[in-house]
Amino acid sequence: MTRRELILSSAALSAAAAAAQSNGSGKTVSIASGNGINATARAVEMMKAGADTLDAVIAGVNINEDDPDEHGVGLGGLPNEEGVVELDASVMHGPTRRCGAVASIQRIKNPSKVAKLVMQETDHVMMAGAGALKLAKAFGFAEDELLTEKSRLAWMVWKKSLRDASGHNNWTDGLDAPVKASAQLKKMFPDVDEKTLAWAWQMAVHPIAGTINCLGLNAKGEISGVTTTSGLAWKIAGRVGDSPIIGAGLYVDQEVGGAGSTGRGEENIRISGGHTIVENMRRGMSPTEACLDACKRVARNYDNDNTRLKAIGITFYALRKDGVYGSANLWKGGQFAVNDGKGPSRLENCAYLLG
Ligand code: GLY
Repeated sequence: MTRRELILSSAALSAAAAAAQSNGSGKTVSIASGNGINATARAVEMMKAGADTLDAVIAGVNINEDDPDEHGVGLGGLPNEEGVVELDASVMHGPTRRCGAVASIQRIKNPSKVAKLVMQETDHVMMAGAGALKLAKAFGFAEDELLTEKSRLAWMVWKKSLRDASGHNNWTDGLDAPVKASAQLKKMFPDVDEKTLAWAWQMAVHPIAGTINCLGLNAKGEISGVTTTSGLAWKIAGRVGDSPIIGAGLYVDQEVGGAGSTGRGEENIRISGGHTIVENMRRGMSPTEACLDACKRVARNYDNDNTRLKAIGITFYALRKDGVYGSANLWKGGQFAVNDGKGPSRLENCAYLLG
């Protein structure tokens, strides 16, 4: 063995010993929902540079929150039925076993950072609405108008698409048939290009529950997670989904691992998905099995009636403390983002319950 090889192998042994001492697997891994390619890349880059796992995953999802073209998270998120963007987020820090959350916060584009503020600067766990905004402002957060022109357009198209039992809508001139064809939309919004109109129509008739969940594990075995969202598009003002609910949209136990969810929050709340998955892993299920079990619980709440379940989209994600990870979707077809610390982030197929 050359001197150089000896030094390298000693360094590798020291790193392995340090990891073993702290009960870590030596792996740096981040996983996220399918919109988390950039988030997982940033999280891993930061964890490798020595950042705290929670700071790393928050910095990851800030990319999504700051992006005006991501319509399920932060700035540009689709608004509630009154045209107001209301955001939900939660964070959990494995090493200190602390957590924080905000619900229905307006005018602050990074609710994930405010959730950390709740965790770090108060002895509360969850703050909502005006109180959460006051807290953010007290710590110097800037207020922004979160409703972008594109999101406002989608909201307006949605309003114009609604009809009462007699086919009437106050938000049209009263002469039109229900909005369906692109020609009718074009007449209503003559200055908007057809691609944007087609997108707005899709948003109006298939409301999204965007959301990003991101989990991060460092080489020392420390694990943290974050979930952030603008919630269900066109929701009733004040509706809170699963994302800010510790144990539903996010759960981390430093002894076991972390889990989170995206999709229709109401279904996740009813099964406490995040907590259920972590407890499943504690009892020996693999991350994928644990996520599939959560899907089964959602299906069971509908008596496994696929006709009714068709309307529900929901995905679960899990990262175990040894770096093994998995994800499951209720329906076939979902993907999730992975960065295993060995190169660029990639999308992997989710396991699924129903084909
Ligand atoms: N999962 C996000 C929401 O339902 O609000």
